[in-house]
Amino acid sequence: MQIQDLVHHFSLGFLVCALGNQRELKSEIVLGGCLKKSLVVSIWGADAYNFIRAYLLVRGYGEDAAEGFQVSNEFRELIRRSQSLNVPFSYAPLFLDLIHGKRSTEPDRALNIKGSADTHQRYFLPVISQMKRGVSSLRVIDIGCGNGGFIANLLASCGSRVSVQAFGVDVSDISINTFNSRFERYSKIASMKCDGFDVEQWSTAVKQFLLTDPDYISLWFLIHELRNFRITEVQDFFCQLQQRFPRTALVLTDLVRPRLEAFATNALTVMPEYTLFHDLSGQSLLDQQTWNSMLESIPYEVTASRQYDTRVLSDGRQEHSVITVFLSPISEEEFLNA
Ligand SMILES: C[S@@+](CC[C@H](N)C(=O)[O-])C[C@H]1O[C@@H](n2cnc3c(N)ncnc32)[C@H](O)[C@@H]1O
Repeated sequence: MQIQDLVHHFSLGFLVCALGNQRELKSEIVLGGCLKKSLVVSIWGADAYNFIRAYLLVRGYGEDAAEGFQVSNEFRELIRRSQSLNVPFSYAPLFLDLIHGKRSTEPDRALNIKGSADTHQRYFLPVISQMKRGVSSLRVIDIGCGNGGFIANLLASCGSRVSVQAFGVDVSDISINTFNSRFERYSKIASMKCDGFDVEQWSTAVKQFLLTDPDYISLWFLIHELRNFRITEVQDFFCQLQQRFPRTALVLTDLVRPRLEAFATNALTVMPEYTLFHDLSGQSLLDQQTWNSMLESIPYEVTASRQYDTRVLSDGRQEHSVITVFLSPISEEEFLNA
């Protein structure tokens, strides 16, 4: 892995998110094929314009022209492809603050949360089809529920055939408000604003609402949100889940940190950018090895798994960008004897 490759990916990540975050500028580029100085400067200032222009020139993504910087078709395609990248876009202010040497504010969670649910459908649907197989009812707790994208997909997919009762937990006001207005009409759906890792707090509310144990607890892209990740804390979280809900299965989907080699060649996803954004904002992307050792050290066993965006690296090993695992609880005795 060359340093230039890193710089390339990082700058590209910055650029895509910065441009993508500004609809006006993006449509200028896609429709007009031109990066307008006046527009960039009015949004971010001259430094950002110089940075973007220099980057585009170096990468061969266009050239100076009388009416502004003319971008290449390849670059326009790149910007068009970034249409669904709400999540990285939400990190754009953070990037710009870093470039200007400022201590940054938090990324805009609203955009991040919307982006997650909009792009996660391809992960939701296989899990839903597994969950609803052979059952007439489902009780689900969704920790880190965001804007309720998963529950909405679950309801749509189950229709009137499977009765769904769901409880969303999220630490963010924006998430919970969006979730609540989305499911206003549904008496079988409730939520709580609370730290998902504070199992004691939400489990009491859940038990009152469901009146029985849930069938599943889902953790969609939650673990990587932890700041200053410590494996013992996460193990403790899973132990608490198992103690409070000893018959409830878990389903967990999350990002996997790519190895550097994959990082440089990965054309399948936007992982390089994602990795950088998450690192910069202090989140915790675990690599596959850390995931494996964590999953082996909790009182659950993996009953099914699925991987996304698999790459085969030069040493023949496979690497994935996203993993889903179904986890079934095992008793303390089984766990200790395993
Ligand atoms: C990447 S988003 C995923 C949203 C949703 N699960 C999805 O897949 O569409 C992560 C969500 O976890 C929430 N979150 C982060 N830390 C949390 C915590 N400690 N407890 C509960 N929710 C948390 C965020 O507010 C956000 O809604």
